Amino acid sequence: MRTQVGIIGAGPAGLLLSHLLHLVGIDSVILEARDRPYVEGRIRAGVLEQGTVDVLNDTGLGARMNREGLLHHGTTLRFRGRNHHIDFVDLTGKAVMVYGQHEVVKDIIAQRLADGGKIEFEAADVAVHGIESDKPWITWRDKAGKDHRLDCDFIAGCDGFHGICRPAIPASIQKVYERVYPFGWLGILARSKPVQDELIYNNHARGFALFSMRSPEITRLYLQCLPDEDIANWPDERIWEELHLRLKGEDKLNLAEGPIIQKSVTPMRSFVCGPMRHGRLFLAGDAAHIVPPTGAKGMNLAVADVRYLCRALETFYKKNSGDLLGGYSDLCMRRIWKAQRFSWWMTSLLHKFDERNAFENEVQLAELDYVVSSRAAKTSLAENYVGLPFEDQ
Ligand code: FAD
Ligand code: DHB
Repeated sequence: MRTQVGIIGAGPAGLLLSHLLHLVGIDSVILEARDRPYVEGRIRAGVLEQGTVDVLNDTGLGARMNREGLLHHGTTLRFRGRNHHIDFVDLTGKAVMVYGQHEVVKDIIAQRLADGGKIEFEAADVAVHGIESDKPWITWRDKAGKDHRLDCDFIAGCDGFHGICRPAIPASIQKVYERVYPFGWLGILARSKPVQDELIYNNHARGFALFSMRSPEITRLYLQCLPDEDIANWPDERIWEELHLRLKGEDKLNLAEGPIIQKSVTPMRSFVCGPMRHGRLFLAGDAAHIVPPTGAKGMNLAVADVRYLCRALETFYKKNSGDLLGGYSDLCMRRIWKAQRFSWWMTSLLHKFDERNAFENEVQLAELDYVVSSRAAKTSLAENYVGLPFEDQ
C-alpha cells in the first residue's frame, strides 16, 4: 500500500488530521490498534474550546455537536461550600461546548468513511521504519494474521501516551519534562440529572470533585482519589456518599443519584516531550504531551497540533516548502506550554495536597477567593479555559 501521510492512532488527533488532509487533497491511511466499537465507546474528555468548535464547524463536522452539545457560557468554582460564577462570555466574548470526546470521534469516523477514507482497525504490531529517510514506511499485522507494509512520505504519530511513535525518536535528541501528581480522578457516568446547568469545579477538604454532564439526563462526575485507586473499593453507594459530602454547603445543592453506567480511574500527570518531529515522523496530541484534566485541555491541544500539522503538510505539497514543517514543533510547543501552565495551576488551585500544611491550605483558599473577586484574575482564568487564540490566524 502507498499513501502520502501514514497516521498511527484513531483518537481525536489522528482522525481529525486525516479529515483535514482530505479537505486539502492530501491522501492518508489510519492504522488503529483497537476495534471501532472500542474507539467509539472510550469515555474521556467533555469540554471543547471555542477554537475546537470552530474547527469542527468550519470543516463540516459540527452538525450533531450543534444539535446535541451543550453550549456553556461560564463555569462555577466552589469552595467553602459556596458557588462562584465565572462568566466566560462577559469576560472574553467566547464560550465552550460540552460534548463528549467519543461523540467527536464517532462523527469524524462516520465522515471519513463517507468520504472514502481508509481506517485499518485492529492493526497489531504497528512499527515505523526509515523515519530519517524521505521514504518512511509502516508495517503491521491485520486481524487475520496477514502482514502489511504502507509506504508514505510522512508519518504522523497520533498514537497517544502509550504509543510506539514517541519511543521511535532516539532518546538522545528528546527532552522530557514531567510532573506526576500524588492523586488521580475517579470518573463516573450516571443516568441522573446534572446538579445545575453549568460545571462545578469543587475545592473541598476531603478532596476535589467535578460535577459535569453529557446531556440533561446524563451526569459526568469526578472525585479526587489515590492515583492507583482500586475501583473495586468504590461501590456505587460509596461514590454517591462521597460526592454528597464534597458538595455539602449552605446552599443545599441537590445532587440527584442514578444508575452508574461507567467507572474508571485516571492517574494525573503533566508531561511534555520535544521536539515533536524527527525526520519524517511528526508527533501530535497525547503522543507528545499530557496535561492533568483539570483545565480540560488535552483533546483541545490535540486538535490544535493537527491543525498546525495539516497546514505545514499542505504548504509542503502545494508550495514545495518545508518551512512550516520545520517550525511545527516550536509553534506547537508555545501553545502546549501555556496549556501546561494553566492545567498545572488549576490542579494546584483545586486539589487537596497531603503534603501541604495548614498555612498552605489557607493560601489556596485565599487564592480562590482572590480569583473569584478580581475581574482581572477571572478574565485570566476564562481566557485560558475557553482557549487562547491560534497563533497562525
Ligand atoms: P488518544 O485519544 O489516546 O488516541 C490515540 C489512539 O492511538 C488510540 O485510539 C489508541 O488505541 C491508538 N494507539 C495506541 N497505540 C497504538 C499502536 N501501537 N498502534 C496503533 N494504534 C495505537 N481533554 C480535553 O480537552 N477536555 C477534557 O475535558 C478532558 N477530560 C479528560 C478526562 C479524562 C478522564 C481523561 C482520561 C482525559 C481527558 N482529556 C480531556 C484528555 C483527552 O482525552 C486526550 O488528551 C485526548 O484523547 C488525546 O487525543 P489523541 O488522539 O492525541 O490520543
Ligand atoms: C470534563 C472533564 C474535564 O477534565 C474537565 O476539566 C471538565 C469536564 C468532562 O469530562 O465533562
